[in-house]
This record gives sequence, structure tokens and C-alpha cells, in this order.
Amino acid sequence: MNDKLTADHVRSLGLTGRDFLRELDFTAAELNSFLDLAARLKQSRKDGHEPELLSRKNLAAIFEKTSTRTRISFSVAMSDQGGSITFLDGASSQVGHKESPADTARVLSRIFDAIEYRGSEQAVVAELAKYSSVPVYNGLTDQWHPTQMLADFLTMREHQVDPQEALSYCYLGDARSNMGNSLLIMGAIMGADTRIVAPKALWPGQTVIDQAHARAQESGAKITLTEDIAEGVSGAEFVHTDVWVSMGEPKEVWQERIELLQPYQVNQAVLELAGSNAKAMHCLPAYHDTKTVLGAQIAQDFNLQGGIEITHEVFESSANISFDQAENRMHTIKSILVATLA
Ligand code: CP
Ligand code: NVA
Repeated sequence: MNDKLTADHVRSLGLTGRDFLRELDFTAAELNSFLDLAARLKQSRKDGHEPELLSRKNLAAIFEKTSTRTRISFSVAMSDQGGSITFLDGASSQVGHKESPADTARVLSRIFDAIEYRGSEQAVVAELAKYSSVPVYNGLTDQWHPTQMLADFLTMREHQVDPQEALSYCYLGDARSNMGNSLLIMGAIMGADTRIVAPKALWPGQTVIDQAHARAQESGAKITLTEDIAEGVSGAEFVHTDVWVSMGEPKEVWQERIELLQPYQVNQAVLELAGSNAKAMHCLPAYHDTKTVLGAQIAQDFNLQGGIEITHEVFESSANISFDQAENRMHTIKSILVATLA
């Protein structure tokens, strides 16, 4: 662990040139390599001797949806490693509305060393990867959020009371969304005790559930999908949630979503059901108070005081480790960049 991280060591991981589109494309060993490298990069940054392994590398980062964490993580990671980043979006470039993913990919790969994409359709990031001659990374689609999974797993690794024990976590909320899908599949690949706790109408699609069971057979993961909160939450070391209405969904779905998900709010009672050491996790941004325009509007329209998907009480308590998660976005995204480009 003390020897200096070199490009040769990184290349020996065998991840050079790989796309990072969805968790399903990787083995548990490969995902663990990204996590180990992230932990190492995190430590070397804190110690002040981070090696620059991406000098003169250029990343094109396309954001068709808004972002704080993912955007700043790619940016700071490239800068720390001696590389640079160019941001593109539909409003200020031809991407999306005037040039197809296939043409965009062929143009960008002539000039850049890698491409990041955030948008709605998984098919778009897959198409970029098909036509690109450089690695393509998924910075979130409606279906998957794979860079978030590395941050979540690094954070759980850091906070697990007994790292020798199997990891156990549950996800409460809209489980058909990117976060529900990704947490189910990632847990299945990594051999975790993985629980999806949501009304059946909001469970992941059957294809994703089947993929999870198939990967669990290889890894020994325990997969639970349940509507029963006590069954799903009891004994889980980590309790995840996410916004109930995701980017790109119309405002009109809030009413129905709140009716379905109100019992699945992450509050003190739910956390206590999980166990006395249970930690709350959220990919962020979160609606836990009325200090955002939308948070205030929803709280007023639906008479929800004290938080929506997570209560203000839990969010401000020591059980909340979502800011560690947010920091780890940068270290894990850096690990993807270094592992695939160094
Ligand atoms: N968690 C996450 O992806 O945050 P951003 O939308 O701010 O990038
Ligand atoms: N499910 C959320 C995740 C945000 C990081 C969304 O897609 O808006």
C-alpha cells in the first residue's frame, strides 16, 4: 500500500480502454479493483503525494441533464491527475438536437481520450460507446447510475462495523429508477444481502430482477424484494433512499408517488427498525427540508412537514453518511478515469 502508484500498476488491473456503462458489464473482481484503486487514490490525495497519471489526457463531458456531484467529480478528478475536461450540453453545442450520438462519438474520439455522458436514454450512451474509439462513461441515465455505485460501495466499506461480515443494505423508494436498478444489480454482483423495499408498482422491471438473481447465483448474494418495511429493513446495516420523482419526470407524478411512497420514508422509526448502528445513505440531492424551491413547493402542496423521502431529523443526525458518499463520488470517478486511461 505504501509503494508509489504507477501507470504500470494501474495497467496491470486489466481495465485499460474499458467503457463504464453499467454494472452488469463487470465482474465482482473488476469492480473491487476500481474500489481498491479509489481507496488508494483517496489516501494519496490526503497524504499530499498523489501521482499524476492522466497528464495531457482530455475528457469530453456531455451533460444533457443537470448535475452537481458528477460534474464536479469528473472535473476535479481530471485536474488532480493532470488532465483537462471540456463540458458539452444540448444548449451550447450540437449534441443531441443537431448531431446524432454516432456522429458525435466519431468526432469526439478524434480529439478526446474519453467521453462522459449523462442523459435520459441508456441507448444513447450505448450508441456513443459503439461508435467511439475511446472509453465512454455513463454519468447517469434513467436506467443506471453506475459511477454512483462505486461511491456507495466505497462508503459502505469505510463504515461497515465488521468488514468480515457480508454487506447488508436496503433501498426504500422508487425502485424502478436508476438508483433502485443499480443498487439491486450491484449488490447481486458483489454478493451483498440486498433488499429492495417498495410498493410492487415501483419495483425494478422483471428483466432487471432476473439479471439480479442470475448474478446472485454466481456471487452468493441474498436478494429480497418486499413491500413489507419491517421484513426489508430489519438488520440492514445501511438504509438507502433517493428522490421520489427523478429528473425528467413530470410534476404531475408527485401526487401518486407520495401516496405510494409515504410509508417508505426514511425516518427515525425506519432507522431504528434497521438497527442501532444503521446508517442512512442518499445519492443526493435530497428533499429533507423546505430550503429548495421544489422542496418547499411539495411540502406545501402535500402538507409534508419535516422532509419528503428522508426526514430532516435523520438527515441532520450522525446516522447520515451521505456527505461521505458525495466526497467518494470524486475518488471513485477518479479511479475509473485512471484505471481506463493511465
Ligand atoms: N448523486 C448525483 O449524481 O448527484 P448529481 O446529480 O448532483 O450529479
Ligand atoms: N433518481 C435520481 C438520481 C439523481 C442523482 C434522478 O435520476 O433524478
